[in-house]
Order: sequence, then structure tokens, then C-alpha cells
Amino acid sequence: MCGIIGFVGEEQAAPIILSSLENLEYRGYDSAGIATISDGKICLKKDVGHLEEVQQKHHLDELPGVLGIGHVRWATHGGVTANNAHPHLDCSGNIAVVHNGIIENYRELRSRLKSKHNFISQTDTEVIPHLLEDYLNDGASLEEGVIRVTKQLQGSYAFVAIYSREPGKIVAARQGNSLIVGLADGRKFIASDSLSFLKMTDQAIFVEDGEIVVATKDKVRFFNQDSLELEKSPGKIDWKWDEATKQGYDSFTLKEILEEPETARRALMQDKNLVMDMALGILRARQVVFIGCGTSRYAALLGRYVFSKFGGGFSPVIIASEYPYFSESIDSNTLVMAVSQSGETADILEAVRAAKRKSATIFSIVNRVDSSLARMSNKVLYLNCGPEIGVVATKSFVAQLIIFYLLGFAIGNKLDEGLDKLAAAPSWIAGNHRENGKGLIKLAWKLRKRKDFYYIARGTNFHIAGEAALKLKEIAYVHADGMPAGELKHGSLALIEKGTPVIAICPEDYTFHETLSNVEEAKARGAFVIGVSDRREDVFDKWIKIPKVEEIFYPLVSIVPLQLFAYHSAIARGLDPDKPRNLAKSVTVK
Ligand code: F6R
Repeated sequence: MCGIIGFVGEEQAAPIILSSLENLEYRGYDSAGIATISDGKICLKKDVGHLEEVQQKHHLDELPGVLGIGHVRWATHGGVTANNAHPHLDCSGNIAVVHNGIIENYRELRSRLKSKHNFISQTDTEVIPHLLEDYLNDGASLEEGVIRVTKQLQGSYAFVAIYSREPGKIVAARQGNSLIVGLADGRKFIASDSLSFLKMTDQAIFVEDGEIVVATKDKVRFFNQDSLELEKSPGKIDWKWDEATKQGYDSFTLKEILEEPETARRALMQDKNLVMDMALGILRARQVVFIGCGTSRYAALLGRYVFSKFGGGFSPVIIASEYPYFSESIDSNTLVMAVSQSGETADILEAVRAAKRKSATIFSIVNRVDSSLARMSNKVLYLNCGPEIGVVATKSFVAQLIIFYLLGFAIGNKLDEGLDKLAAAPSWIAGNHRENGKGLIKLAWKLRKRKDFYYIARGTNFHIAGEAALKLKEIAYVHADGMPAGELKHGSLALIEKGTPVIAICPEDYTFHETLSNVEEAKARGAFVIGVSDRREDVFDKWIKIPKVEEIFYPLVSIVPLQLFAYHSAIARGLDPDKPRNLAKSVTVK
């Protein structure tokens, strides 16, 4: 889960690579580096820190040459050190490689190579340049070497290699991790994500598993692992590059939360025939199983409720990384509903591959049109929410909920009714932002020293408690528990003391009175109670007002102020909400 980029063109490569890396930084930001080729030599700079820090210290953009590779890292193997930062070199310093993924057999390869090769990092990646070194010393070309290397590697990878003795060429390979080629006149890119080159070209070709790419400034060629050349043609990337910029906001996270009214509008723009078609597929399946991770899983939990309410039956929601332990129950009559913003989450892709091997049908709800999940699915509904760059999922969650509502109404054969009702969603959300904006800033500052938060709710609102707690953990680095309100008295009540913040999501729906009873229990032990409701109650020390909506839609309006609260809590604690420590947006490792 790193970002990789290779560029070959006519102008200086390093400034272009640096600007591409800025758009990949959401994938990893603990170290960064660039290598170029100039005068028959590899020139390399890399270090720990955010890209901007590494740039300030080392002036990455001043590296000479018209070809190069770059990397932003999210550490998996080996700590965050300058030696572990990419690019990695072979012993001679003639080969440089950037890699995203995990080489599972790197220990065996390393122990085989280490008598002849000098390893300077603890990474799994470093085996690649050393393997290449042997093949290239035997007389192989860079592409022949890369093909031979891929036959040695187990695990998942997307990597790009350059070789100082073939200075006009970049060569890349993919197995399990995203890789996309960008094409412009006299300029070619090979990157983890099209966002990295979208400002310069929207013409792209996806690289598939097992393929090898050879790019020069004028031409890109594709090969399979038997060295057979493949015919592939470019397509157009639909996103606009400026959607992936902050557009004047202080952070992507805030921008994306404030975009949610528009997100809701865009999520509603679905092909009705496709929605109905998927609803029929759901009704016909012997069983429907949801899979997702993190925020997408919380959306799926709500999806389960919506499907059950509209007659789609009860469906289990499986955390994607736990899927292997349930896989016996999956067969050709199973419909797997995979939910993912990125469509690149390794746990999800792995689960979907396993489900496909059992001949299950795959429907997915995805944001990234160019994603691996979208391409693996039988049918896809897109979130249409544009790039989500802030590491925490915000607007994509809103879009996921909207799509689950639409599918639910379609299952009940009431799609038009659902569309009519949800047409008001953008104004509910916009009103919510206006109503709570200032109050949430004050609340976040008041509670900025607090180290434990409890989010409680019942029924569908319980999933919002889980998602809201996840947001606070991720960006404010605070312990937060999202739990069913009724469970508090079965143990966690012991942790409530004077001033402990308890956030109760208790709209005036079927859960209202019972949740309030649990709120009273917490209050009696000294809790500072924050009520998220359309009805003010005396027991609330602070009221976060949400609009009165039909019962089923409360989750949609409750999450919005709680995302903002997490955002303001990060700011109040002096943290960067866009780059929470230890996390990265697209978790492309298992
Ligand atoms: C939470 C968050 C993560 C993701 C999870 C799944 O704010 O960002 O928990 O939700 O990694 O990612 P996708 O939806 O891309 O599969």
C-alpha cells in the first residue's frame, strides 16, 4: 500500500514525478523517494517523512534526467527508515525499483541471494533489484529480466524498474496490485492510480495481473509472462484532475465532508434498469452475503438492515479478512455484495477471488470506476462521488448508504418512491452542516483532552455509532467505542466516570425511549451526555440537532455531524486529519 509512478518523456522527469507523487500520497506518507537516469547513471534521493518534508530536505525535483521512478511508502516490511524507503537498488547501483504489495517468499529469495548480494534494507522489495541484477548480468534485457523475476515472486506486487544501461525505458509488472498506464504525446506514465497523471492525460490502459509493460517516450508495449506481445487499446478516465485538489479548503477531509450534499445528489444518479436488475438478482439468490472492511463494512451493515426491511431476507455481513473462515458456505447460488470505496482493498479482492472460484455471483458497490473490484464484478453500482483523497472515508459512506437505500426500495419494487424521498437528502445534509458547524467546533475543543469516548445507539443507528467511533479513532487518535446502547450495562458501564463523554444517537424513532433509558444509566454515573437527535431532552448536556426524517433515513443524517465532530477533534488536538498516523487510504496488503 504504497504509491508508485514511472515516467518517461522529453522534459525533466523529476518535477513531473514529484507532482504525480503528491496525488498518490494518500496511499502512504511515511517516506518518499525518486530515482532518475542521467549520463548513464542512476541518481537517487529518498528519506523518511511526508513527501513535502523529503522534498524540502533533498530537493527531489532537481534530480536530472528525462526518465525516472518515484514512491510514497506505507511501511509493511521493515521500519520507517531511510534505507527502507524506495526506490531500492541492486549492488551495482545500475537498477532501481519501486514496488507496491508484498513479496511473500522474500525470505527464501533473500537467503538464496545474500551470499552474492549486499542487502541494505529490511524490505521484501529489495529482492527484486538483486534478482534483476543477476539476469541483466547474464545478458537479459530489462524486460526479459522483469519477466524472469516475476516467475520467482510469490505474493502481490506492482513494480516499476529502470536500468542505467537502457536509459530510455521503464518496465513494470503487475500481480494483484493496481497498475495503470497513462499515454500522452512524448510522455508515458506507469502508476498505481490514474490520479497521479490525470492533470497531464486522461488516456489510459489498465494493466492486468500477469502482464509486463515496457514504456519508452513514444510507445508502450504489453507482454504476458510467456513474452507474447498483447494488443491493448486506451480508454478515457472520466474524473477531472481538479476534483483531486483541495480547491481552497484547509484539508481534503473537510472538503469531502462539505461536499456531501453533492455526493448524495450524484449517488442518486443511477441507471434505474441496472438497480432493478440487481434487486432482482438479490431476490433470486439463495443467499446474499455482504463483504467489506472498515467504513464500507458499516455501510454494508446498514445495507443488511435495509434489505431485510424491504423483503430481501436476512444477509450476513462478513469482514473481508474473515471471509476465508466462512468460505465453505459460499456456492454458485450465493450472491456476494462487495462494498468498497477504492475497489482495491486487498482483503476484499482476495475474498471476491475466492467467491468467484466457488462460482458465486459478484455484485459490487464501488467508487473507483477503474478499480480491480469493479472489473471483477458481474454487476456494479458506482458511488459517483469523485476522488476521495482524505484518508478517512466520509463522503463515500454517505454515497454507499444512498445506494443501499435505492437497492432496498428496488427490492420492494418501489424504486421511484425511494428516488422521490431521497431527492431531499442533499438538503437534509446541507442543513445539518449549517446547523451544527460552529457548535461542533466548540464541543471538539471542550473535549480535546478526553481520552475515551462511548458512542451508543440501537437498531440501525448502532452502525452509525460504530462508524462515528471509527472516525474519531482514526483522525483524533482517541479511544472510542461504538456499542449497542443496551450492552453498556453488561460491562462497559464500569468505565464511565465523571465527565466521560457518551454520545447517544437517539433520533425519535423506534429506538428512542430505550436508548434514553441507557443514557440515563450513563448519566447517573457522571457521563457527559451528547445527544444526537431531532428531539431535545433534559438529560443531554449537549444536543446535536438532526433533521426529522423518515425512520429509515436517520443513519444518513446522524453520521454527518459526527464526521464533522471527528474532523474538528483532530484540529483541536493539533493533528493533520488528511494524514492520520499509521494509516493509508487504500489498503492493498492483506
Ligand atoms: C475508514 C477507512 C477504512 C476503509 C477501509 C476499506 O475511514 O477509510 O476503514 O473504509 O480500509 O476501504 P475501501 O472502502 O476502499 O475498501
